[in-house]
Amino acid sequence: MRIENRQRLVVGNWKLNGNLAENAALLGACANAEVRVARTLGVCSPYPYLSQLQSVLANTPVQYGSQDVSRFPKGAYTGEVSAGMVAEFGCQLAIVGHSERRALFGDSDEVVGEKFLRAQQVGLTPVLCVGETLSEREAGMTEVVVARQVGAVIKIAGVAALAGAVVAYEPVWAIGTGKTASPVQAQEVHAFLRTYVAKHAVEISSKLPILYGGSVKKANAAELFGQPDIDGGLIGGASLVADEFLGIWQAL
Ligand code: 13P
Repeated sequence: MRIENRQRLVVGNWKLNGNLAENAALLGACANAEVRVARTLGVCSPYPYLSQLQSVLANTPVQYGSQDVSRFPKGAYTGEVSAGMVAEFGCQLAIVGHSERRALFGDSDEVVGEKFLRAQQVGLTPVLCVGETLSEREAGMTEVVVARQVGAVIKIAGVAALAGAVVAYEPVWAIGTGKTASPVQAQEVHAFLRTYVAKHAVEISSKLPILYGGSVKKANAAELFGQPDIDGGLIGGASLVADEFLGIWQAL
């Protein structure tokens, strides 16, 4: 049964996309959407655009933030951007542990845990991504993998930290491939994740928003969001097209 007081949200992850002109049109459409507290809309852009997000979205209910943060708070770490710097732009959100960062940039479970902690320490809501690869799914390892990924964060940040966080289940084989997990497949993993967190803290688990990500479109969003443990979506490609993105959000 759905818990009605759990936050429901759709968050866009622009990845390495955008330019000032296109962003302005997309953000304008988001700013004009009738966002309600019970149905949150969020946007996570590349770092250089955070000031543009702030100027368009700061006085709207749309939440915004970054796609990553450094595991370090400050110092001699060339090229890094700290959670504190992100927070200075009025951001609410920070994605951590996206599978592209894990696979392409070497973010281990421990590094993701540290990033989660850094984001939370400055008042950002971490959006913790977890998910298995195709070979892990085929080997029957899905639950082991997502439990390990969430478990590492609980070990580093403590289970209480999940009280102010969002989890996003993104099966790697469904990201950018056009292959969506079926609503039943996604629900199974979401329910597993909720039960896994409940073993540490029941109350936190029942309130934890768990988003689905991986080829979500306007056409498949409603069925996914209708599952009892799917509380919204983390949207890649479709978040770059205003009509698709807002259509997905309206399906919430
Ligand atoms: P797509 O929606 O493009 O499959 O990407 C999902 C994703 O990785 C969101 O973080």
